[in-house]
Amino acid sequence: MKGVILAGGTGTRLRPLTSMLNKHLLPVGRYPMIYYAIDKLRLAGVTDILLVTNKQSAPLYVQFLGSGKEWGVKITYKIQDQAGGIADALELAESFVHPGEKLIVLLGDNLFEDSLAGCVKEFEQQSEGARVFLKQVDDPRRFGVPVMNGDLIERIEEKPKEPKSSYCVTGIYMYDEMVFDMIRAIEPSARGELEITDVNNLYATKGLLTYSILNGWWIDAGTFPSLYEATDRLRNYSGDPT
Ligand code: G1P
Repeated sequence: MKGVILAGGTGTRLRPLTSMLNKHLLPVGRYPMIYYAIDKLRLAGVTDILLVTNKQSAPLYVQFLGSGKEWGVKITYKIQDQAGGIADALELAESFVHPGEKLIVLLGDNLFEDSLAGCVKEFEQQSEGARVFLKQVDDPRRFGVPVMNGDLIERIEEKPKEPKSSYCVTGIYMYDEMVFDMIRAIEPSARGELEITDVNNLYATKGLLTYSILNGWWIDAGTFPSLYEATDRLRNYSGDPT
């Protein structure tokens, strides 16, 4: 399975810090935020990783991560020229993923406790489809919210005013190679972006969207309070949890 980490975006909710530094390079404990996504993939046995970022920040990522060797992984870089949404960034992974191969996608600002190893193994055995990771949260209205039916997700509602469950869809996704056809099939949303929720909903319509639930803590570190919480959780992270 290939790994894809999305680390572009403008980080508006973390200004002024992000006016000079990409969000995923901000310090969280002893490391820049991006380190934790790399380490989660490595610990799940996913060592061939594509990092998608923007042209301003790319040199800093290269400076920190290099080829990835020092961190036990192999890193390929791609540049998203303009912020066009999560699905737009993911489309850049098409040539990185070989026919028949699956991919796990992490949003670089999603920090979490659970290991991905078991789910990666399970998904590798699965013949087709997509899987998203869910987490129970206090305020699902800030996120994508799943409408579940047994083992399947029927649809995801993006930032709904009246959430149909207390779960949110986190920025951890697994796809088969069909994901690139799905991205080509969607249109930009009202905010002019290709939305990952629209891609996931295409899988859902075909009855091909399953889920796993995160039991440990999960943080979308895109705001100051959540960045502080992440720092608190990870301040003693030594690089190799079990
Ligand atoms: C994105 C997704 C949303 C998901 C969230 C998780 O939202 O669109 O479905 O719940 O990531 O971090 P964004 O953070 O881009 O608003």
